[in-house]
Amino acid sequence: MQSFRALEVEQGDAGYTTRLVERTDADLPDGDVTVDVRWSDVNYKDGLIISGRFDLVRRFPMTAGIDLVGTVAESTVADLPTGLLVTVNGQGLSTDHPGGYAERARVPHGWVTPVPEPIDDLSAAAIGTAGYTAALAVRALQEHHVEPGGGPVLVTGAAGGAGSVAVMLLGALGYEVVASTGRREQEEKSLLRLGATTVVDRLDLLEAGQLGRAKWAGAVDTLGSRALATVLSETRYGGTVAAMGMAMGVDLPAFVVPFISRGVTLAGIDSVYAPAAARRSAWALLAERLDLAVLREITEIVPLAEAPERGNTVLAGQVRGRLVVDVRA
Ligand SMILES: NC(=O)c1ccc[n+]([C@@H]2O[C@H](COP(=O)([O-])OP(=O)(O)OC[C@H]3O[C@@H](n4cnc5c(N)ncnc54)[C@H](OP(=O)(O)O)[C@@H]3O)[C@@H](O)[C@H]2O)c1
Repeated sequence: MQSFRALEVEQGDAGYTTRLVERTDADLPDGDVTVDVRWSDVNYKDGLIISGRFDLVRRFPMTAGIDLVGTVAESTVADLPTGLLVTVNGQGLSTDHPGGYAERARVPHGWVTPVPEPIDDLSAAAIGTAGYTAALAVRALQEHHVEPGGGPVLVTGAAGGAGSVAVMLLGALGYEVVASTGRREQEEKSLLRLGATTVVDRLDLLEAGQLGRAKWAGAVDTLGSRALATVLSETRYGGTVAAMGMAMGVDLPAFVVPFISRGVTLAGIDSVYAPAAARRSAWALLAERLDLAVLREITEIVPLAEAPERGNTVLAGQVRGRLVVDVRA
């Protein structure tokens, strides 16, 4: 039986460590779809998993990587034939089930999303969980009737992976996009190219209980904590805020006034266990609207062995755009 490489997380006395190992198909879990994995990526959650923060891994050793992109190698499911380009995002990859930092993976068919044309394999990995979640957030704004032409839509953490894709999608859909970033000097030009109408510094954070001037028709927030509380307090009457991240913190020191006096909606976005229909809808939006050539400009490819150290730079908020992992390099 042929062996393949996998990058595993192990727990020891000194905390979590990672190592490259050789595995065979006999080591793969049960599942009706086996994938020849071509690419994975480094998301904020990959950084959390590899560093051991929050103890997200349920058993050890565990193959890391919350995303995978590759072709179906073996399948018992008619609509997932051999050779089909597919992706798996979340679903417990690398916390409960061996993930995408390996050349082979086996999963239940319900987890698999076919990659829609014209998205190619590398672009699908560049999108990854960050981009697909950004698409879920944009879908939530659409579902809550935040319309292009209806006023400015804010994206926080705009130079990060999810923020960049949110800016691209909203810009392509014709929204007035205000991109908020802590790296305005370096990133302004790039964010304008991605589709931002205006680039601003990080928000001046309001005190808990302070109602700000109503500015935003909608927002995609990747930060949580006081940033999300501030966004809620600055959202216009009837607006919607899609909360998808916690890069600033998991707390929410907010008050109810934006909800009860401005009718603001707080829409929660989960990518890990999102149902298949929502996944396909998000990927269809990406296929329709994302400029893949521009996405390539903010994508860096790193070899498998480098993924752990890059996870730490993502946690430090130092990565721009998307990091793709070449699992064969
Ligand atoms: N809901 C879900 O299912 C789901 C799915 C994917 C991701 N997420 C979450 O979404 C967030 C973004 O993910 P990502 O992959 O885009 O991460 P990322 O590439 O690291 O981007 C996060 C961005 O947030 C900003 N930032 C970081 N630390 C900050 C701080 N202390 N204060 C203010 N801004 C800060 C930085 O943007 P600037 O430099 O532009 O300021 C950074 O680039 C993460 O919290 C992640 O866990 C959730």
